[in-house]
Amino acid sequence: MREDIEKILIDEEQISKKIKEIGNNISRDYKEKDLILIGVLKGSVMYMANLAKEIDIPCTMDFMSVSSYGNSTTSSGVVKILKDLDASIEGKDVLIVEDIIDSGITLKYLQKYLRAKNPNSVEITTLLNKPERRKADIYVKYVGFEVPDYFLVGYGLDYAEKYRNLPYIGILKEEIYK
Ligand code: IMP
Ligand code: MG
Repeated sequence: MREDIEKILIDEEQISKKIKEIGNNISRDYKEKDLILIGVLKGSVMYMANLAKEIDIPCTMDFMSVSSYGNSTTSSGVVKILKDLDASIEGKDVLIVEDIIDSGITLKYLQKYLRAKNPNSVEITTLLNKPERRKADIYVKYVGFEVPDYFLVGYGLDYAEKYRNLPYIGILKEEIYK
């Protein structure tokens, strides 16, 4: 697997340090709230699991699955819900947990969809942010790392469902997807 990686962009230690920081901020900001973490499958699983462990206030978790990319590396603009929430979020303080925000199209859609369910608030946290590629205008409350426009894999992020289990964020060699 390592031979498909051009370069390690963010290593395990940098990631865990950053997640601790974000967890502390969330614990402080949501002390008096009814926090629910909503992970966007499957990319967010690593971030979700490690972030949740760094949050030391009561919270619940749910997951959604949406399709946007298929096996390609660019956004189709089409968002389809494959798995919806298990329970009501009415009155709750929702924090959407994402792996990476690229065009922002997926998140823009998801935020609107969740707001219609009458939660108290809807905010976003993402481990990685690619601001250069943004098409939809969205506010992200907690960002792990701003990253350049490379195709990244690892720590939940995939290419054609592979590389999610890498413990770091790496740049995928172009020859793998070209
Ligand atoms: P958006 O709608 O363009 O913001 O797409 C966001 C989704 O695209 C993320 O949740 C990822 O699943 C996927 N994605 C975007 N950039 C990358 C990347 O560099 N590597 C792997 N997946 C990516
Ligand atoms: Mg995703």
